[in-house]
Amino acid sequence: MSRDPLNIVILTGAGVSAESGLATFRGPDGLWEGCRVEDVCTPEALERDPEMVHRFYDARRAALLTVEPNAAHHALARLQRAWRDEGRGEWLLVTQNVDDLHERGGAVDVLHMHGELLSALCAACGDRHRWSGPMGDDPPCPSCASRRLRPDIVFFGEMPYHMDRIQMALQHCDLFVSIGTSGAVYPAAGFVQTARHYGAQTLELNLDPSAGSIWFHASRMGPAGRLVPLWVDELLAVA
Ligand code: APR
Repeated sequence: MSRDPLNIVILTGAGVSAESGLATFRGPDGLWEGCRVEDVCTPEALERDPEMVHRFYDARRAALLTVEPNAAHHALARLQRAWRDEGRGEWLLVTQNVDDLHERGGAVDVLHMHGELLSALCAACGDRHRWSGPMGDDPPCPSCASRRLRPDIVFFGEMPYHMDRIQMALQHCDLFVSIGTSGAVYPAAGFVQTARHYGAQTLELNLDPSAGSIWFHASRMGPAGRLVPLWVDELLAVA
């Protein structure tokens, strides 16, 4: 029985990695409770105090070695495999997260719209390099040898990555699902409105109501590690 294709866009935030042990940004013990965005996540901060910025991201990059993907990451990869192998429709996984847990959970072609901890960007030549170690000791760029490597993270005030591809997918999707994000930061927080404007069904899976909950046709509250596998099983059974 051939099914109509179902084009899916999924957006994840820090909540999808919380049960793996990575801190979220807002809420109890959030990263932004421990330090100010202005001190570690703006171009001005990098200019003013590069050591502090590198210390912040070197610590988060090192923490990646101590955590594992959780059931939500694995379930999303399982859904992606079904969609790709069975041609069940277009698939796009966009994450605001800079960790690599979606990939380690089996997902491929993940769009990291806020960049990646495991990538270094050379401010001199613009080249990017996979990077798992510290940057605080000003290592030379493998391409141009300048000592101007920075975390390949989209700082506040900078343009998120992959926006053209994301906007196109939002305009053509039938289902938009937001997982583990507070809806506090644009442009990601506006994706649900774009998807809904173009006719998509919208679903939110989150521990708590988010700033954008009103825009979703359906919202389910609970931990991603429990909600996402249940939702994936449900979708694979019916779609
Ligand atoms: N399961 C599901 N959701 C969870 C869980 C969990 N186990 N734990 C927390 N959450 C939810 C919280 O309820 C909250 O709504 O995840 C969300 C995390 O919100 P934030 O900490 O604001 O993280 P996020 O939405 O990803 O932040 C967006 O802000 O500071 C910038 O660049 C940073 O990418 C980040 C962006």
